[in-house]
Amino acid sequence: MSADAAKRRAAEKAIEFVEPGSIVGVGTGSTVAFFIEALGRMKHDIEGAVSSSERSTAQLRELGIPVLDLNAAPEVPVYVDGADECDPHRRLIKGGGAALTREKIIAAVARRFVCIIDPSKRVEVLGRFPLPVEVIPMARSHVARKLRALGGSPVWREGVTTDNGNWILDLHGLRIVDPVGLEREINQIVGVVTVGLFAARGADVVICGDEILR
Ligand code: A5P
Repeated sequence: MSADAAKRRAAEKAIEFVEPGSIVGVGTGSTVAFFIEALGRMKHDIEGAVSSSERSTAQLRELGIPVLDLNAAPEVPVYVDGADECDPHRRLIKGGGAALTREKIIAAVARRFVCIIDPSKRVEVLGRFPLPVEVIPMARSHVARKLRALGGSPVWREGVTTDNGNWILDLHGLRIVDPVGLEREINQIVGVVTVGLFAARGADVVICGDEILR
């Protein structure tokens, strides 16, 4: 099965987790694009969506799916999103598409986080994919120095501004054996908005192609 076919299969399977009449949390990325497509076919069975990026919002609106403000959503039973890496404990690296902050917010609100991936995203230990860190622009050099002290090599994703007006540092060369600890540590650095480690709140369900990993 090609990577794209696996993404599509996972995305279509995720529809089974959507609760009728509910507000659906929607992530960002090429796998989620397949999910939004599938959601469009059942748009009359849901109340609407809360979206993690301008890109997903545009696709949702194009398909006629109402996009709601998260503050107006009393409950988000399910959040569906992709990942850049996923370990056997369903802990993730996210943020390859620079949408990590809004993704983390919706994941925190949602009762259940369903992560959809293709097999290339599965790893034993997180860190092969450079870890994205969203930073306040004036703190970029300060945060980079602190991240270097943790043993990684931060690289500024030049030319990219997040939907929140911030910048991204990609942290290369880490073997993340304690994702929860590292998430906590990076969160402590002044100037960090969000780290793309989803470990304290990982996925509840991972769908990889046709396979469901709980
Ligand atoms: C967006 O910022 C990311 O967190 C995406 O979830 C991640 O990059 C996965 O994207 P693909 O589905 O395109 O691989």
